[in-house]
Amino acid sequence: MLVNRITTLVSSQAVRGTTLRCIGARAAYSTNGQDFKVTDTEIQIGDKNYKKDAWTNVSPTTLSRVNRKLHLHPQHPISIIRQLIESHFHDFKPFNEFSPVVTTKQNFDDLLIAKDHVTRNRSDNYYINESTMLRAHTSAHQLQGMRSGANKFLISGDVFRRDEIDASHYPVFHQMEGVVFFDADPVKTAEQVNADIASGRLKEAENVKVVDDTIVKPENPMQACHTPETLEPIAAHLKYSINSMLWKLFADEQDLEVRWIDAYFPFTSPSWEVEIKYKGEWLEVLGCGVVQQELMNQAGLHDKIGHAFGLGLERLAMVLFGIPDIRLFWSQDERFIQQFTPGKIQKFQPFSKYPPCIKDMSFWLPTKSWEENDFCELVRDVAGDLVENVELIDDFTHPKSQKRSLCYRILYRSMDRNVTNEEINTIQDRVRGAVEKQFAVELR
Ligand code: DAH
Repeated sequence: MLVNRITTLVSSQAVRGTTLRCIGARAAYSTNGQDFKVTDTEIQIGDKNYKKDAWTNVSPTTLSRVNRKLHLHPQHPISIIRQLIESHFHDFKPFNEFSPVVTTKQNFDDLLIAKDHVTRNRSDNYYINESTMLRAHTSAHQLQGMRSGANKFLISGDVFRRDEIDASHYPVFHQMEGVVFFDADPVKTAEQVNADIASGRLKEAENVKVVDDTIVKPENPMQACHTPETLEPIAAHLKYSINSMLWKLFADEQDLEVRWIDAYFPFTSPSWEVEIKYKGEWLEVLGCGVVQQELMNQAGLHDKIGHAFGLGLERLAMVLFGIPDIRLFWSQDERFIQQFTPGKIQKFQPFSKYPPCIKDMSFWLPTKSWEENDFCELVRDVAGDLVENVELIDDFTHPKSQKRSLCYRILYRSMDRNVTNEEINTIQDRVRGAVEKQFAVELR
């Protein structure tokens, strides 16, 4: 899980007693989000009611995106990639309809994430209340999948994280989880790995160069209950499965570099990440590893050994389809969706980029501490998808008073029309007002 920062409560003022529906019935391809209702004391999503408490920090903007199900719209790039991966892993059972509303037990405890682990922070997650949240990763359903009786399965869906604002971060994105387990018998596992390789699924492609110099070592160890003989074939299967998927997906891409690096996840050991070099930078596309046996045991799979991976579909789609801004995935503009054909990877043809409107805002903080995620969340709440980028351009502490002043640059731009300066001024005024009120800052 990505590790970020800490938070305060998102204001519910604006939504008291109102029923909100997801926008977007306009475009033919849109799937509406689920109905929801927010009152002073409750949040209703679909036909379920949740009591609000001190943990509640989910915003109406985010709730409106719950269940848009971009991953199920056949013409949408996210869905096209999902289907291509599913056809590659054709003997895996796909689960695409698990609800994004999960318990904190599913999202954290079941995955052995410690009670005080930073990934539980309110500033990084959307809590409906203390025990319920919008899932932060599809790993939240690993146990469900393991208990389903399938020994190879995929789980796709939307995941929610509070984050910074730029072209590759959005509070909702899509992940695909894969889990495989075998009999914890080295001979049998080796047989199955060899059978998979022989079946032609694991073909090497010359245009995709994979560098993997990871070795199992004390910092990224084998689990005490495993032996090198059981670990080796399972790790080999994991690595071949991922590499072959990448060789297939990127078959038409020119000279792509992929690398395996060591990682840490509480629910796997050893653990790795896979990165792709894109526009000169290494982009993390998936995390994976050998499933902690304790987790397998919780699912009643004491005599099995498994591997798992979780990949970000937007990241892959941005590289494969050449999509430059993550907001485009949510665009209701026909010029976006009509470019794509189910089953095909085609480069996105950018439609004219509209001019940006840039506004700066500076303020004195009431205390030294500051959570940027909370600020970004509020900006998104007020300005919606018109905000493309938020950047801290000045951080200054007054030498005498020791007061800290920040200056943020907000770049506004619409994906499908020109914005006027007056319109953005009105929004910027609302952002300033909301920031002043929520964070008790002194605007400059
Ligand atoms: N859930 C992790 C994340 O969102 C990714 C991940 C890592 C998934 C390792 C896995 C895994 O299944 O084994 O960052």
